[in-house]
Amino acid sequence: MKKAFIGVYGCQMNISDAERMEGQLKTIGYERVEEMEGADLILLNTCCVRETAEDKVYGKIGEIKHLKRANPDLIFGITGCMAQKESDGLIKRAPHIDFVLGTNKVHELTHVVQEIERERGHIVDTQLGETELPDDVPVARGGKFSAWVPIMYGCNNFCTYCIVPYVRGRERSRLPEDVVNEVREAVAQGYTEVTLLGQNVNSYGKDHKLADFADLLKMVDEVPGIKRVRFMTSHPKDLSDKVIAVIRDGKHICEHIHLPVQYGSNKILKAMNRVYTVESYKDLVRRIRQEIPNAALTTDLIVGFPGETDEDFAEMLAFLKEIRYDSAYTFIYSKRSGTPAATMENQVDDKVKHERLEQLMALQNEISFEINQGLKDKVLEVMVEGPSKNDAAIWNGRTRTNKIVLFEHKDEQEGDFINIKITHPQTWVLKGERV
Ligand code: SAH
Ligand code: SF4
Ligand code: F3S
Repeated sequence: MKKAFIGVYGCQMNISDAERMEGQLKTIGYERVEEMEGADLILLNTCCVRETAEDKVYGKIGEIKHLKRANPDLIFGITGCMAQKESDGLIKRAPHIDFVLGTNKVHELTHVVQEIERERGHIVDTQLGETELPDDVPVARGGKFSAWVPIMYGCNNFCTYCIVPYVRGRERSRLPEDVVNEVREAVAQGYTEVTLLGQNVNSYGKDHKLADFADLLKMVDEVPGIKRVRFMTSHPKDLSDKVIAVIRDGKHICEHIHLPVQYGSNKILKAMNRVYTVESYKDLVRRIRQEIPNAALTTDLIVGFPGETDEDFAEMLAFLKEIRYDSAYTFIYSKRSGTPAATMENQVDDKVKHERLEQLMALQNEISFEINQGLKDKVLEVMVEGPSKNDAAIWNGRTRTNKIVLFEHKDEQEGDFINIKITHPQTWVLKGERV
């Protein structure tokens, strides 16, 4: 077997795409390895959502130059969102890259690698075809019990800060039977948890109109053998009462909604083109909590969007105190050229951005800690994931609400469902013991 290293950056969609790349590479004699050294093929599946994501990849591209010098037969390709964005510019900048394959070309990987094996030379294919779905490609899943299942590709929302619609193209939903079949196959292979993926899962099916997201969730919930169904990401503007009811009535649909608000003031939300208002978002949260009282809510937040003032920021902090998310991913606004926000006036000073980020994180940590204190002495169902990073005697798992639980390992196996009594809730993790 030849050796392939696949480096993955960015979001779950990239993890899922990488599993499909690995699946294809297997069919032409490659096995995936964890080290770049000694690999016959190196793929970087990249992200460009923020400048920091790109910087990481450029650093890696530099490292690989030495490997390529030591082994001229090494094949080096860039895939994913940066490949889509930079296209042949990447090879101009770093000629040791052999090929650049765009986000809609995942299914072309075997052909491209074989062509380079035969004839060497450079290949660039970043056409953003809007119709192709990588539906028939084999998938080599990473986990043993938890499977990523893309239900749609692309995004139509054009939030003014965001590059994703430009590098992933317009929304295309997979056929409901294709999604359900993939879930069935995963269950047949032993997977008990699936996460349905899309940039905005709530607009699933608006193109083909064969099923909406609520219908699809219900179908997946009913697949025999499935134990947990997750989904992400939900755009607040499209999360319907029908979806809320399906989550409420579902047997296996986890009560966790990742519902990125991005900002907590109407002025900034409008400038971001998020379409909803603070009021409509609060009303949505009220309806979710009314129907699914134990739902965990998480979010993404951006500080330093152009035009953000101290007043806006204060409004955002007040908003967070009111909503009380279980946790939040917090980001500093990063200018993405080609997006409307990049040329907006009143870009926020770097120092101010960092100060606001600190403040935001401190407040959110306080809230997460308080919410988790409420779980002390509660017994929660945990799906076992395996040994923790730092201590092999301590294992971790996840609650239905997607919280990480640490416990002392006895005879549990990966994939088991166990009950844990929470003894020491913290900000990021819950510590507990088996009951
Ligand atoms: N489709 C999803 C996620 C998109 S990218 C959604 O709409 O929620 C993940 C997160 O990155 C976004 O939610 C946003 O918070 C953040 N993000 C996107 N563009 C950004 C930028 N230019 N600067 C900083 N953060 C950004
Ligand atoms: Fe980006 Fe907005 Fe689309 Fe999410 S919904 S991917 S933030 S444009
Ligand atoms: Fe990054 Fe592309 Fe995902 S830009 S966040 S990898 S869709």
